[in-house]
Amino acid sequence: MLILGIETSCDETAVAVVRDGTHVLSCVISSQRARFENTGGVIPEDAARQQVLCMLPVLHACLKEAKIDPRELDAIAVTKGPGLLGSLLVGTTTARTLATLWKKPLIGVHHTLGHLSSTWLDPIQDSPSTIHHPPFPVLTLSASGGHTDLWLRTSHTKGKLLGSTRDDAAGEAFDKGAAQLGLPYPGGPSIAKAAETGDPHAYKFPLPLHDDPSLDFSFSGLKTSLRYLLRDLTAHDSPSTIHDIAASYQHALCAHLMDRIMRAVHRHPEIKEIHLVGGVSANTSLREMLQKSVHGKTIRWPTKLIYCTDNAAMIAAAGEFLVREHGGRAYEQFETTASLPLAMAVS
Ligand code: KG4
Ligand code: ZN
Repeated sequence: MLILGIETSCDETAVAVVRDGTHVLSCVISSQRARFENTGGVIPEDAARQQVLCMLPVLHACLKEAKIDPRELDAIAVTKGPGLLGSLLVGTTTARTLATLWKKPLIGVHHTLGHLSSTWLDPIQDSPSTIHHPPFPVLTLSASGGHTDLWLRTSHTKGKLLGSTRDDAAGEAFDKGAAQLGLPYPGGPSIAKAAETGDPHAYKFPLPLHDDPSLDFSFSGLKTSLRYLLRDLTAHDSPSTIHDIAASYQHALCAHLMDRIMRAVHRHPEIKEIHLVGGVSANTSLREMLQKSVHGKTIRWPTKLIYCTDNAAMIAAAGEFLVREHGGRAYEQFETTASLPLAMAVS
């Protein structure tokens, strides 16, 4: 199928055209991140207003780049939630209008199902049969600025949530840590950069939830440890200390994510593939740790950085998988919802 995807759950206006849930013809994103860099976070009213301004130019650019006529589309997929309601409504209203105008079926997609689908976009080496019949069960760590979840899926759209964060999200822990270290937002890339010349074993951080048998996550303790560590620094500490701290903090965050992944792998030996998705999946240190720890299972993360963070290609891919696995039910009416339970991402 040829699907137009629309994603506007937060401060990015994104439109994409994807064939067969994998082949990306175009993926255009207009980000308002710079606008909110100095405001201490996204201002929902402002984000929604920007979505209105960006939507049509992004849509036009996307169709032009894909070199398709809207008549060729099989369906339109749009993020129905969760997210900022004003922003979401710009996307769903646009999608409903286009669906009526172009007489195309509409698919409402849970934002998280989009992230879970992002590992199949523009595959580098898979044969078409692997892509269309991927070896499930797949264990996926979905980690971004808003969530940190571990999923065990038995198909693209079916499975269960094994664990979630009890406090901050992993990306949030990178962002808040970077703020404490005086590094710019977003914290993930800036901590990773500072860590390049640091020693990841220079400072020891506790391993969160070490004795907890659940597969949940917790990052607030690491953030507090970082605060105490920085408080106790003296004027005699060398300037390179900050690089060692960044590297050690990054290592601690990744060690916690890895600890939960490995526990899940041991409990579920049937797992065939392990995937990383969401903004934090861009982290090289995490990718290396996963590659070193896991043997005999396929490891995947999105093939491009833009597929790690919010984009519309992943929404179009999820739309394709919903139709493939649920037929006409994928086209059922849906509401635009700010708080869509996580468990509803998969059936
Ligand atoms: O998925 P995303 O673009 O947006 C949502 O939060 O939904 O993820 C953004 C998050 C930020 O917290 C950012 O610090 C983190 O992903 N991030 C990273 C890296 N790049 C982005 N975290 C660790 N390492 C990175 N290289
Ligand atoms: Zn997201």
